[in-house]
Amino acid sequence: MSIKKVMVIGAGQMGAGIAQSCAQSGFEVLLNDMNEEAIEKGLKNIEKLLTRAVEKERISEKDKKDTLNRLSPSTHLQDAQSCDLIIEAVVENMEVKTKVFSDLDAFAPKHAILASNTSSLPITEIAAVTKRPEQVIGMHFMNPVPVMKLVEIIRGLQTSDETYQAIKTMTEELSKTPVEVNDFPGFVSNRILMPMINEAIYTVYEGVASPEDIDTVMKLGMNHPMGPLQLADFIGLDTCLSIMEVLHEGFADSKYRPCPLLRKYVKAGWLGKKSGRGFYQYS
Ligand code: CAA
Ligand code: NAD
Repeated sequence: MSIKKVMVIGAGQMGAGIAQSCAQSGFEVLLNDMNEEAIEKGLKNIEKLLTRAVEKERISEKDKKDTLNRLSPSTHLQDAQSCDLIIEAVVENMEVKTKVFSDLDAFAPKHAILASNTSSLPITEIAAVTKRPEQVIGMHFMNPVPVMKLVEIIRGLQTSDETYQAIKTMTEELSKTPVEVNDFPGFVSNRILMPMINEAIYTVYEGVASPEDIDTVMKLGMNHPMGPLQLADFIGLDTCLSIMEVLHEGFADSKYRPCPLLRKYVKAGWLGKKSGRGFYQYS
């Protein structure tokens, strides 16, 4: 099948990045959120990043204008009726996602593929609330989307080969590298990354070293571009906690127990960069 028009649901840091990457690669894009301010913020941020790309001579002024012309705001899920692919990027919560997917199943045309950018939740369970589980798939982009080359593609139990091929091709059209993964909690990326971040949080909790020093060890000692605590702030501590909970519950193994300090920060509203405070403070 040919994908021409995409709807991205959730205009947060991931949704806006996915919308930008799709529009830059020539797809028509509807950026949807239940919060109009989030859409406005997302579109403004895309424009800012495109302006920077023009200044750095990576794209032309015309590329910027054409990309922005391919992006439109949407506040109604009914708008999915004109789309070939819908990529959901709302909060990491199964109840919220299944509600979005069951509504979408009613509005999206029969041929449309429904993809989730979930970081860890079972695609099979999300697909089960629709009448088209063979057309439901995980399309897990990495943050920041315009920069990061990987997309994990997760097959649910009933995902068809045709759906998989269409999403693999689309990922390549976005100039990204697809990796096929089966439906297990946290897939590959977060099964490996998130326990490292959780362990770094335990290291703060147990007073082994300061957040700055832990991040320095991992940056200078292991050549990571960001330390794990800075990365956790960047991902969002609420998202990190949700992923650890999915791993903990999904594998029923205490090695995935979320650190109590992570829970405490999320309860306090310290969600990282997006809320202004996490392991670091952001002005
Ligand atoms: N959005 C778009 N572009 C961004 C960006 C953002 N948020 N942040 C940085 N960039 C771009 C910059 O514009 C710059 O591009 P140009 O040179 O062309 O202008 C380029 O990235 C490099 O930026 P900087 O020089 O400012 O900073 P840097 O060298 O430290 O790179 C980084 C920034 C790419 C984010 C780097 O720090 C990095 O790779 N960090 C780790 C990212 C990572 O691990 N991501 C995966 C997170 S886990 C995940 O996504 C899965 C999940 O489910 C939680
Ligand atoms: P975010 O908090 O920045 O944005 C979520 C957006 O979804 C908000 O704008 C919110 O208004 C919107 N939203 C919530 N419910 C909605 C609904 N029912 N309909 C429409 N919009 C709704 O979150 P994020 O960091 O962009 O994460 C989004 C998804 O992407 C999550 O599933 C997360 O696990 C996944 N993800 C996150 C990262 C990361 O590094 N943050 C990386 C890969 C995948």
